[in-house]
Amino acid sequence: MEKIIIHGQRPLRGEVEINGSKNAAVAILPAALLANDVVILENVPDIADIKNLIQIMREMQVKVDRIDNHTLRIDSRHMINDCANSESVRKMRASYYLLGVLLGRFKNARVAFPGGCDFGVRPIDLHVKGFEALGAEVNAKAIIEMKARELVGTNIFLDIASVGATINIMLAAVLAKGTTVIENAAKEPHVVDTASFLNSMGADVKGAGTDVIRIRGVQKLHGSQYAIISDQIEAGTYMIAGAVTGGDVTITNVIPRHMDSVSAKLREIGITVIEKDETIRVIGSDHMKPTKVKTLPYPGFPTDMQPQMMVLLSMIPGTSMVNESIWDNRFRYVEQLKRLGANIDVEGHIAIIEGVDQLQGGEVQATDLRAGAAMVLAGLAAEGSTTITNIHYIDRGYEGMVRKLTKLGACIERVNDEGPQLTVVEDKIS
Ligand code: EPU
Repeated sequence: MEKIIIHGQRPLRGEVEINGSKNAAVAILPAALLANDVVILENVPDIADIKNLIQIMREMQVKVDRIDNHTLRIDSRHMINDCANSESVRKMRASYYLLGVLLGRFKNARVAFPGGCDFGVRPIDLHVKGFEALGAEVNAKAIIEMKARELVGTNIFLDIASVGATINIMLAAVLAKGTTVIENAAKEPHVVDTASFLNSMGADVKGAGTDVIRIRGVQKLHGSQYAIISDQIEAGTYMIAGAVTGGDVTITNVIPRHMDSVSAKLREIGITVIEKDETIRVIGSDHMKPTKVKTLPYPGFPTDMQPQMMVLLSMIPGTSMVNESIWDNRFRYVEQLKRLGANIDVEGHIAIIEGVDQLQGGEVQATDLRAGAAMVLAGLAAEGSTTITNIHYIDRGYEGMVRKLTKLGACIERVNDEGPQLTVVEDKIS
């Protein structure tokens, strides 16, 4: 079993480059299949979720070639519309985008149920309602089967501004007849990036980034070459790494506007955040103030940054509060953080944090992807050594985390039961 071992309390210094956005890439790779052509995608992150998605696509007779570590050539001219028996589909949540894509392109789909991190109930009822509104018959039992004689554009109001439902409906609607209007659409950067990519293939999607998206169906899409945006959550994670270690970290290849809610919270706490065109510099502080954080859809504070922010709050003298408003059960990792000395009480959606002077190293598990990142941040800040197990979760969404942190001056290594491995080799997934 592989683990990460960290000897904490070293201030991180230097530059760290952010890779392509996981949550944009997991939508854009499937979206490429709508073209029945060849698509070149650049800035694709080299992470386990993408590796898994490539596996699913290959099982569906899509030809996927790596031009280099971050560039893929996707040829879907001979693909099939069935991934009902794929184990790989069950390994990740975002495989649900295959539903919208197969329905849009073939008007007929068979897809296994998606899996993913466990934050309580993760329904797809809004996706299904959207597909039904477009004219699909949906049968979701052991697998999800959908068919439609034709898809016809319509108005769809989302009860919740769901990222997945917004993107999935967009994917199904780009090749539908007439115009689809999604109201109360999600506004996350990856929604906008997916719309931009669809437009680069000849789709007609307007309004992405606002809460009304209009999709005028077109007859056909064509191949394209497109670079995926950089990862908002990876950037935020390294911003907090700078803050929890009292360091001075410059994050490069970032879109500062996407980080506004995180930057504002860090400034409120007393951290210095300096934004330039494509970089953000974070300088730690000895005088941090407690605060309140509520997770909200974009442009609010992202739920995917909640565990990382919790680590910082747990080190700030005084009482802070976190209100998780997106997921039912995203505080499971708190038990792990308490093992390192954090003083946190969770009641339903609210966590009350009494800051402690010092986190102490110990043995913890990654309970999901962002929780895993939070354990790494806690280990960087803690006194002594911290061992993190279940690190396959971290690999799902962070490219080269050990390598990047080592370059910033962290004392961190990845080991398996046979002992340390070479950082550069072990930390790359391709
Ligand atoms: N919801 C429903 N019905 C639905 C869909 C969603 O009730 O049909 C509810 C969910 O239960 C949740 C809320 O709506 O309470 C928001 O869920 P959303 O659909 O926006 O989440 P998602 O699309 O499944 C994406 C990200 C998550 C991120 C959320 C919220 C991807 C692949 N995943 O999930 O990212 O937490 O949006 O921003 O884009 C992560 O990267 O670690 C991660 C979990």
